[in-house]
Amino acid sequence: MKCIEVPKTYAEKTIRLLRRHGLLDTEHLITRRDDHVVIPLRNDEQVPDILVNIPLKIISCNPPIRRKIRLRVPSHDVIGDVVIVRENVLETMDRNELIHVLRTLYPKIRTIYLKRETTGEFRTAVLEAIWGIDNPVTMHKEYGLRFKVDLRRAYYNPRLAEEHRRIAEEVGDDEKIFDLFAGIGGFSIHIASLHRSIIYMNDLNPYAVRLGIENIIINRKRIRGLIIPLCMDSSLTPKYFKQGVFDRVIANNPHYSHLFEHVYRYLLKDNGILHLYFVSSIEERDSFIEKYFSDWRILQLRKVIDYAPYVFIWRADLVKT
Ligand SMILES: C[S@@+](CC[C@H](N)C(=O)[O-])C[C@H]1O[C@@H](n2cnc3c(N)ncnc32)[C@H](O)[C@@H]1O
Repeated sequence: MKCIEVPKTYAEKTIRLLRRHGLLDTEHLITRRDDHVVIPLRNDEQVPDILVNIPLKIISCNPPIRRKIRLRVPSHDVIGDVVIVRENVLETMDRNELIHVLRTLYPKIRTIYLKRETTGEFRTAVLEAIWGIDNPVTMHKEYGLRFKVDLRRAYYNPRLAEEHRRIAEEVGDDEKIFDLFAGIGGFSIHIASLHRSIIYMNDLNPYAVRLGIENIIINRKRIRGLIIPLCMDSSLTPKYFKQGVFDRVIANNPHYSHLFEHVYRYLLKDNGILHLYFVSSIEERDSFIEKYFSDWRILQLRKVIDYAPYVFIWRADLVKT
């Protein structure tokens, strides 16, 4: 078979061009020969036309065959340099195989955690380190924003990144917003990065609020709005805030959000918008809204993320009437 030999400084460009034109043989491995790289070809006919200005030699070669690795990849989340898998993955997969697969997929990770459950009012994860260094603090990026997370002490779900952005894109400039269950600040910081709004970023968990403050500082160069961090029980906000002054309330506490209906009503202006997150199956979704929010006008209902088999986290955008 034929290969191209190029000086290694040209290797990246050559590989890119060959791949673009479908000439790269991906069944065989690219190898090094001193300060040259030997790249296997599917065919060499068009090579001189495509790789102009690249000092190359077309040679006969016998590169090693790429071993096809068929990996059975379980559902998982990558957060910074940490991978989290749910405990139930071990029902169908051996622990060592799981570690091998994840390390093959992500050679740069430093920790693999098994998530046993999410518990308590703070919705924190019970994690067991099954490989690597047991340190749940890491940095994770969402749309270029950087978030410091402590996966044991404060709730964080990387699958909400798109939702953070979607809400931030819906907000207008100069709005006054209450993020009642803010966690480490996902919604608040995304909004403030796009708009000159005022956002109250509240959580009951002091570790979450502390991380939220650190995240404001980490992203300070990208923040245009004003974020006011708070650590309080959301049900007490009517005691400390004026009635009817907020344009928007974000209620992302899906298991308990229905318990705070009176709070949302108190905080929002007339026609203010509530982004309400709740957990339900498709069958029970409408009756949930009917039961707890029948006085609100529905703008839209959408599925946000999967929660369990046939159960989802939904967002209802509701208008205070
Ligand atoms: C699902 S998490 C929030 C996630 C966050 N909005 C995000 O996008 O990453 C729910 C949060 O509600 C907080 N929480 C629970 N009860 C609360 C209460 N009564 N008042 C304020 N925060 C509360 C928890 O500490 C937890 O951080």
